This record gives sequence, structure tokens and C-alpha cells, in this order.
Amino acid sequence: MAINNFTGKIGNRNKVILFLFTFVCLFATLCRSHKDDSDSVVQNAYGQAFAVPAACQPCHGEICKSFAGTAHFRDSRPASGSAIRGSFAADSNRFIYNPSTAVRMERKGDSFYQTAYHSGKEYLSKPFDIVIGSGRKGQSYLYWDNKKLYQLPVSYFTPADCWCKSPGYTADSPVYNRRVPVYCVECHATNARTVVGKSREYGDFFDKRQLIYGIDCERCHGPGAAHIQFHTEHPGERAGVYILNAGRMSRQQKLDACALCHSGSRFPLKPAFSFRVGDTLNAFSEAKYTEANVATLDVHGNQYGLLTTSKCFNQSQMDCSSCHQVHTNEAGDLKGYSQRCMSCHNGSLHKACTMPPTPGLVLGNNCIDCHMPALPSQKIVLQLSNAADTGRDISNLVRTHHIAIYPAYVKAFLKNLKGGR
Ligand code: HEC
Ligand code: HEC
Ligand code: HEC
Ligand code: HEC
Ligand code: HEC
Ligand code: HEC
Ligand code: HEC
Repeated sequence: MAINNFTGKIGNRNKVILFLFTFVCLFATLCRSHKDDSDSVVQNAYGQAFAVPAACQPCHGEICKSFAGTAHFRDSRPASGSAIRGSFAADSNRFIYNPSTAVRMERKGDSFYQTAYHSGKEYLSKPFDIVIGSGRKGQSYLYWDNKKLYQLPVSYFTPADCWCKSPGYTADSPVYNRRVPVYCVECHATNARTVVGKSREYGDFFDKRQLIYGIDCERCHGPGAAHIQFHTEHPGERAGVYILNAGRMSRQQKLDACALCHSGSRFPLKPAFSFRVGDTLNAFSEAKYTEANVATLDVHGNQYGLLTTSKCFNQSQMDCSSCHQVHTNEAGDLKGYSQRCMSCHNGSLHKACTMPPTPGLVLGNNCIDCHMPALPSQKIVLQLSNAADTGRDISNLVRTHHIAIYPAYVKAFLKNLKGGR
């Protein structure tokens, strides 16, 4: 009885304890699985969830279809045979440093490697893991070492269709030790998150699961999970909610949305990936140029800085969307771009071109080559294989956004016109 009494008495307390215990366990499990979920859900720095890839398709099919052909969309990807532009064929798969040292691009099954050889002996080999660059101008490649990212020694240069030394590496011998900072990924991907490394090692460590490749819809419009949930539940709603649209913002906000990546490398003031469309860029990072030296800017990667030096920009409300429709690949359509020039320079809104009439010249076909010529970048000078012997260094040509009158290019253009076409 005593025992019964005991169990009976404590029994009730036990029930309570058991109940509480079960509750705590259940709660802990819920919390854990919730935490696990939140780790696998990709979020931005503010805890807003990204949608799964291709989630915009059902409601914005047209835009998604045309956007898939753009350089932004293809700007970064996991490495694959179709993503890597350079050749793995036996006669063109080497980058030669000197007669005894070379890096060979090798394919082993579904994987790709950059393998260094000295006097014919292999001494280091690392995989192509990530491709940076759609291949318009070139590509660079990264490999993972646990949570760290490194740049491979050899890149690809499109105009010459060949392998070249990665910018920033020495030309003497292949090295594989250039850590990739988060700021590189900030300009070349939709999302990434850094984590604390185990050691006190310098440099950024990445959470691989939080990486979204490419410059996709949500890079410019913000994480879309809440937007999709709302519109799925309210199919009649006509106005888009829980989504950013620079098109509805002030001129400076519109410009900053592009200048984040198109105003050259900047001094960071806040962590990478904390800027959101609508924010003031100068509160997140500082330009490395001033009004005094903006005219000396390199054409590479600083379309914003250069545009601000143009009369077009300073005497109108123009922004990047005055000429670019980022949902469509319009590369090379100089006639289409010229139409946008003429929407302002039509003689009534703003002055038309004062170039004297020239036989064979149809101004409206191409305002671009005379007023926004492709100029050599001083910054990105790429060294081709065996350059020590041949001295072949080729610089990259980039469209200047300092819109002006360039007599030398006008002359070349007219000469070209006479010579053919
Ligand atoms: C379930 C349907 C649905 C899905 C999925 C969806 N949207 Fe929308 N979205 C809408 C509707 C409806 C509107 C309002 C009408 C319009 O502007 O087309 C809208 C509007 C927008 C706008 C304009 C907002 C404005 O203020 O002008 C943007 C930008 C946008 N969506 C981006 C996205 C992105 C990016 C994704 C994928 C991450 C996405 N949408 C997925 C339904 C959807
Ligand atoms: C997250 C960084 C980032 C943002 C934000 C961004 N861009 Fe880009 N943009 C790039 C990169 C990187 C490339 C080079 C892509 C490639 O070829 O791999 C590029 C390429 C381009 C090109 C060349 C495309 C071609 O096919 O010739 C244009 C034009 C352009 N961007 C305009 C814009 C405009 C306009 C905005 C703002 C609405 C913008 N970008 C926002 C990073 C960005
Ligand atoms: C490089 C930045 C960038 C990317 C990437 C981008 N957009 Fe946009 N989007 C813009 C800008 C800027 C506007 C405003 C255009 C304007 O006002 O001229 C816009 C406008 C929109 C609108 C409003 C309606 C319209 O057509 O103007 C929708 C919807 C939209 N985007 C959906 C998408 C979807 C879906 C994707 C991916 C497939 C995407 N965007 C990728 C910059 C971007
Ligand atoms: C401040 C933003 C920014 C940073 C940081 C940055 N890039 Fe870029 N990158 C761009 C833009 C914008 C373009 C395209 C526009 C241009 O060429 O003027 C570009 C072009 C490229 C291209 C040529 C792509 C093509 O096909 O045209 C490669 C390759 C590249 N970057 C690699 C890198 C690597 C690797 C890093 C980091 C180690 C890096 N970039 C850091 C903005 C950036
Ligand atoms: C949003 C309207 C707008 C657009 C679009 C525009 N411009 Fe302009 N542009 C202006 C204004 C305003 C001026 C200065 C006053 C004037 O000449 O009427 C100007 C000035 C110029 C000048 C004189 C520059 C100088 O330094 O003397 C040239 C050349 C020019 N634009 C060419 C172009 C070309 C080429 C395009 C297309 C790639 C273009 N513009 C697009 C508004 C525009
Ligand atoms: C007055 C028209 C105009 C404006 C405004 C303008 N662009 Fe462009 N942009 C062009 C033209 C034209 C090209 C050349 C396109 C081609 O050759 O395919 C170009 C090319 C580019 C390229 C590719 C450069 C290269 O050679 O690799 C990038 C990147 C770019 N623009 C970004 C921007 C950004 C960012 C803004 C806003 C800060 C902007 N553009 C504003 C007309 C303009
Ligand atoms: C063959 C080269 C060439 C082409 C093509 C060309 N321009 Fe010009 N443009 C010039 C030259 C040269 C001048 C300066 C002429 C002068 O001395 O008045 C000029 C002047 C201008 C001016 C400055 C007017 C002023 O005095 O402020 C504008 C604006 C302009 N062009 C716009 C355009 C537009 C828009 C297009 C395309 C429809 C275009 N240009 C096509 C060579 C060209």
C-alpha cells in the first residue's frame, strides 16, 4: 500500500513532470527542427527568406524567359562543361609560365581541374568549383577549401578565346593562394553569408548553403518568399506587395541599385550583402573616387561614375533604365540603343546631332560608336600564355559611359564607313 500510496501520490506529480518533460522535449525538438529549417532556408542579412529558384516563373513568365538570356543571370554558376568557356582540348588546354612550368586544364569524369606541372611532374591540382563571368569578356574560376574560397591561377579571356593568367597573380609561376573576399561575391551573386571560421585565420568564411548563384531577380527586387506567399493566397490582388521595385523610387535610389556593383570597388562601411534596393549606397560603402578625379576613372566596372561626368546625365533626369532594360539581353543592338538617344535628342526635347551630313552615314543607326566608344581598360590588362616570350598583353575594351564627342573615334568610324559597308 505504501508503495501504492507512494506511486499514487507521486504518480500525479510524476504525470505533471512527465507532461512538462514531454512538453519541453517537444518544444526543444520543434525549436531545433525550426532552427534546422531556418538554416536551410536561404535568407538575407535581415532574415527575409528567398524563394526557391524558378519560383517567379508561374506569374512573371515573360520576364523570366527573356531574363534567362542575360549576362546578369549567367554571371556566376557552379562549374560544368557548358559553363566553362575555355578549351580542354589537348592542343589548347595549357597556360605556359616558362619552358618548365605550366598549368593544364584537365577533365576527369564530370569534374574539371587546373593542374600545375614543373618539368613534366604534377605538383598541385585544384578543381574548378565556381565560374565567375558569363563569358562576355572573360571568366575567372574559384575553388572551395572547406568554407574558404580561392581563385584559381588561370582565367579565360573571350576576345582572344584563350586561357590567361588570373588578374592579381604573379606571372612567374602558378599559385593558388588568393583568398576570395565576400565583396567579390557581393558583386557577382544574389546572396552569400559569411560565418566565423574555426581558427583566427584572416579572410572570409562562407556558409555554402546560403549561396545563390547569378545576379537573379531577387538581387534587385529583394527576397521574394513573402511576395509569392501573399500573391498565391490573394490571386485577385493587382498591386505587387512585399517586393522592391527601383522603378518606383527616386532617381538616386534607382541609380544606387545599379551603382552597388557598377561604380568600381568601394570602401566598405557596413557588411557585404546588407545594402538593399531603396537604401542610400553612400551609407554602406564609399566611392574610391572624388569629383576631382572622376574624369580619370577607368572604364572597367565604373559606368555610374563615368555617367555622372556626362552632360546628358547632368542636364536631364536620366538613370540607367533610360537606356537599359535589364530583363532583356540587348548586347550589341546599337540601333536599338540609338533609338533611346533619339528619344531625347530629337531636335525638340534636346538638340539633335550637329555632325555635318556625310554620304553613306545614317546617324540613327549608331550614335554609340562616335559618342560612347569602347575604350581599353587600364586596369584589366590580361596576360596571355607565354607572354614573357611574345609580350602579348591584351587589354579589355569597355564602353565608356562618359558620353561626349571623341574626334579620333569619329574619324575612325568614318574611315571604316568608307572602307566597306
Ligand atoms: C503567385 C504569383 C506571383 C509570383 C510567384 C511572383 N509574383 Fe511578383 N507580382 C505578382 C502580382 C500579381 C504582381 C502585381 C502585378 C504586376 O505588377 O505584375 C506582382 C508584381 C511584382 C513586381 C512589381 C512590384 C511593383 O511595385 O511594381 C515585382 C518587382 C515582382 N512582382 C517580382 C517578383 C519576383 C522577383 C518573383 C520571384 C521571386 C515574383 N515576383 C513572383 C504575382 C507574383
Ligand atoms: C550585384 C551586382 C550588380 C547589380 C546590382 C547590377 N549589376 Fe549589372 N552587371 C554586374 C556584373 C557582374 C556584370 C557582368 C556580367 C557578366 O558578363 O558576367 C553586369 C553586366 C551588366 C551589363 C552588360 C550586359 C551585357 O550583356 O552587355 C549591363 C548593361 C548592366 N550590367 C546594367 C545594370 C543595371 C542597369 C543595373 C541596375 C538596374 C545593374 N546592372 C545592376 C553586376 C551587377
Ligand atoms: C539588375 C537588376 C534587376 C534584375 C536582376 C531583375 N530586375 Fe526586375 N526590375 C528592375 C528594374 C530597375 C525595374 C524597373 C524598370 C523601370 O522602371 O524601367 C524592374 C521592374 C520589374 C517589374 C515591374 C514591371 C516591369 O516590367 O517594369 C517586375 C514584375 C520585375 N521587374 C520582375 C523581375 C523578375 C521576375 C526578374 C527575374 C526573372 C527580375 N525582375 C530581374 C531590375 C531588375
Ligand atoms: C564592385 C563590384 C565588383 C567586384 C568587387 C568584383 N567585380 Fe567583377 N565585375 C563587376 C562588373 C560590374 C563587371 C562587368 C562590367 C565591366 O566589365 O565593366 C565585372 C566583370 C567581371 C568579369 C568579366 C565577366 C564578363 O564576362 O564580362 C570577371 C571574370 C570578373 N568580374 C571577376 C571578378 C572576380 C573573380 C572578383 C573578385 C575576386 C570580382 N570580379 C570583383 C563588378 C565587380
Ligand atoms: C534623358 C535624355 C537624354 C538621353 C536619353 C540622351 N541624352 Fe545626350 N544629352 C542630354 C542633354 C540634356 C544634354 C545636354 C544639353 C543638350 O545638348 O541639349 C545632352 C548632351 C549630349 C551630347 C553633348 C555632349 C558634350 O559634351 O557636348 C552628346 C554628344 C550626347 N548628348 C549624346 C547622346 C547619346 C549618344 C545618347 C545615347 C547613347 C544620349 N545622348 C542620350 C539628354 C539625353
Ligand atoms: C545614354 C544611354 C545609357 C545610359 C544612361 C547608361 N548606359 Fe550602359 N550602355 C549604353 C550603351 C549604348 C552600351 C553599349 C551596349 C553594347 O555595346 O552592347 C552600354 C553598355 C553598358 C555595359 C557594358 C559595358 C561593356 O562594354 O562591357 C554596362 C555594364 C552598362 N552599360 C551599365 C550601365 C549602368 C550601370 C548605367 C547607369 C549608371 C548605364 N549603363 C547607363 C548606354 C547607356
Ligand atoms: C560619325 C560619328 C557620329 C555619329 C554616328 C553621331 N554623332 Fe553626334 N556628333 C558627332 C560629332 C563629330 C559632333 C560634333 C559636331 C560639331 O562639331 O558640331 C556631334 C555632336 C553631337 C551632339 C552635340 C550637339 C551640341 O552641339 O551640343 C549631340 C547631342 C549628338 N551629337 C548626338 C548624337 C546622336 C543622338 C546620334 C545618333 C542619332 C549621333 N550623335 C550620331 C559625331 C557623330
